[in-house]
Amino acid sequence: MTALLSFRDVWVEYGDKIVLERVNLSVEAGAFVSIVGPSGAGKSTFLRLVLGQEAPTRGVIDLDGAPLRAEPGRDRGVVFQRYSVFPHLNAVENVLFGLECEGAALTGRLWGPKRRTARERAVAMLEAVGLGAALDVFPAQLSGGMQQRLAIAQALIMRPRVLLLDEPFGALDPGVRLDMHGLITDLWREHSLTILMVTHDIKEAFKLGDRVLALDKRRHDPHAPHRYGSTAVYDFPLENKARG
Ligand SMILES: Nc1ncnc2c1ncn2[C@@H]1O[C@H](COP(=O)(O)OP(=O)(O)OP(=O)(O)O)[C@@H](O)[C@H]1O
Ligand SMILES: [Mg+2]
Repeated sequence: MTALLSFRDVWVEYGDKIVLERVNLSVEAGAFVSIVGPSGAGKSTFLRLVLGQEAPTRGVIDLDGAPLRAEPGRDRGVVFQRYSVFPHLNAVENVLFGLECEGAALTGRLWGPKRRTARERAVAMLEAVGLGAALDVFPAQLSGGMQQRLAIAQALIMRPRVLLLDEPFGALDPGVRLDMHGLITDLWREHSLTILMVTHDIKEAFKLGDRVLALDKRRHDPHAPHRYGSTAVYDFPLENKARG
């Protein structure tokens, strides 16, 4: 079986500053990979590579056996720690947005039966994330946890091959965070998602992931901190997780 995602000797450098070096790994479809590492280790950079927002300086990244195109595509959805929803659109409009861009590239609007079908899908997705009672509500009126539910719905409506989460629960209160853990685990299992999630919380990493990847530097040069980049220093499979 070919891996869904594979990194072969991937490097990211900014001038003479090396952020990632020699990253080699592959991710199977259906995996839930938690990514941990110190601040500045390159975790967000790693996700940006998968998102296609950034290209490696060296090395190759394959998605579904073909070189990943360095542009955001609908096959990859992303949720950030905050502010990834549109403040001027209500919940349904936020989720519809991607479908409208895809279905009506010129006008950004769907009409008639196409719009009805798209709206039904958006409403079903909002119900799946627990926002069925907040369809017409604008983000400013939603709590932090509800905004993250909306951001997840917005990403999932495009049926991405990979869902990328960059500290999605980091700004939430502990109780809300616990609810979100339940939600993301259910969505992962029910929709057979492939998830890459960055977190600062090691307990969260082990609780949610079926694999934990640690990015860090193997070598340090005290006189030149940017001389060496981070790589996958640990990669733990957690066998006891039920796959979606
Ligand atoms: N465009 C850029 N130009 C120069 N350096 C950059 C650029 N983007 C990121 N970096 C550097 O790359 C390193 C890794 O950044 P990144 O944001 O990926 O770290 P991170 O692991 O996500 O950190 P955090 O846990 O704080 O979010 C940092 O030293 C950062 O300053
Ligand atoms: Mg980051």
